[in-house]
Parts: sequence; C-alpha cells; structure tokens
Amino acid sequence: EDITAVARAISEAESTVAFTGAGISTASGIPDFRSEGGIWDRYDPSEFHYSKFKADPAAFWEKRLELYDEIYGEEIRPNSAHEALAALEEAGHLDTVITQNVDGLHAAAGSSVIEIHGNGQRVACESCDRTAPLDTAREQIENGTLPPECPDCGGVLKPDVVLFGEQLPRVALQQAKRLARDADVLLAVGSSLTVEPAASLPRIATRKGATLAIVNLEETPVSERAEFDIRGDVANVLPAIRDAVESV
Ligand code: OAD
Ligand code: ZN
Repeated sequence: EDITAVARAISEAESTVAFTGAGISTASGIPDFRSEGGIWDRYDPSEFHYSKFKADPAAFWEKRLELYDEIYGEEIRPNSAHEALAALEEAGHLDTVITQNVDGLHAAAGSSVIEIHGNGQRVACESCDRTAPLDTAREQIENGTLPPECPDCGGVLKPDVVLFGEQLPRVALQQAKRLARDADVLLAVGSSLTVEPAASLPRIATRKGATLAIVNLEETPVSERAEFDIRGDVANVLPAIRDAVESV
C-alpha cells in the first residue's frame, strides 16, 4: 500500500532524488555506524578525527587498513537495493543518488552519485590536488612506505573521505542541497538521518513541498515529516518499489 503509493509519487514526479546512508550497504556485508555491531561499537569515533590523522598518519593508516580490507574486499558487491536505484535511474524515474557512504557501491551498481562524505576507494594528497586509487597507498604500505606518499609531490596521502573536524566537499554539498530543493520526491534510504549537515537535506526538500519517503529499519528524527515512513529492509523494499513503479 505504502509501496504502491510511493511508486505512484515517483512515477508522477518530475524529479526524484535518493539520499542514502550506511543502511543500504549492510546487505553487502558492510557494517553501518549506529546499529548494534556497527562501527561505533568497535571503534571510538575520536579515531576518525582529522586531528588524529594529522598527529600520526602512519598509525592512522595501519589501523585503517584492517577496516578497509573488510569494507573494500573483492567480495563486497552492490546489493538489490543499490541495483534497484540504478534501475530506476536507467528507466528515467530517478535523477541521481546523494550518498553519505564512502564504499563506492552506488557507482559500482551504475548509479550517478554525489558522494558528500568522499570515497574510501580513493586517496588524496594533503599537499596537492592529486588523487589515486586506494591500492596505490596499500602497495606502498606493503612495501614499507608508511605513511604512503603522493606520486607527484611526495606529500602525505590520506583516505579521500571526510573525517570528523573536516569540511564536507563544497561543490558536492551545494549540488546536494540544490537537488533537495528542486526535488518533487526525496527518497531517504538506510540512514539514521542524525548527522548534520546531511540530516537537513530532508528538511530542505519538505520545506519546498517535496514528498519525503523514508525507507529504514527504525524511526528517524524526521520521520514525522515523511509522507511515507516505510520500516523494512531496504534490500526488499527498494526492489518492491522499483517493480511497482514499472507497473504503474
Ligand atoms: P547510521 O549507522 O547512523 O544509520 C544507518 C541506518 O540504517 C540505521 O537507522 C539502521 O537502522 C538502518 N539500517 C541498517 N541496515 C538496514 C537495512 N538492511 N534496511 C533498512 N535499514 C537499515 O548510518 P548513516 O546514517 O549513514 O559519517 O550515518 C551517517 C554518517 O555518520 C556516516 O556517513 C558517517 C557517520 O559519522 C562520516 O564518517 C563523516
Ligand atoms: Zn601531492
């Protein structure tokens, strides 16, 4: 019923935008942050602070590589929820995905994506504009260069993700806000919607009259603003929405 109604809203909308969080990737085997067994059960958030990286990039990299093997392992693939969003876009029913995730799975599924927290499969030089694949850093570390160095200027390489204490990428954030402002439907998927400034995107959209549809296992702080608040597993709900859109 809600799924049918969301599908109708999407098929009638001129612009639908998806906004995703870690919950869309749990079915791919990547833990989220705030659920039981999530990242914050295993790591202290202060370990993800930029000051920590600055103080000792070598120690930061050593710790991070364990986690990266888990998150970016060969066997990690997009799941049915990523694929449903890519299929909706392919069929002309979805403009783009804005994501807080750094796992790169939306792009792997074929979606166009705005990554407002960066991408952990990439590294960036602290001293120049150079970016490179994570493997560039991994190979250097395996060969004893720690912290890994920029191939162009020798500067320190950092995972190209937003750490606490860092600004969000300005252009990506502006694009995300503009899309939220212009959307007829905002589909918020697998996010606790608690972290700013990302959490304000649903508010920006609803203030401009957009229909907010949330798909998440649990309630969120903006659930009362949502016209549709679907509590369920995104790996089931998103394919169901895609099917329903196709049969509207
Ligand atoms: P959270 O861990 O805060 O929220 C994930 C949400 O997804 C939770 O509400 C879960 O209940 C839900 N969930 C998990 N698996 C699900 C499934 N299969 N189906 C439906 N819902 C599911 O993750 P985010 O909201 O993405 O930022 O967290 C936002 C930011 O907090 C992250 O990007 C990260 C962190 O600080 C940075 O690292 C900069
Ligand atoms: Zn450099």
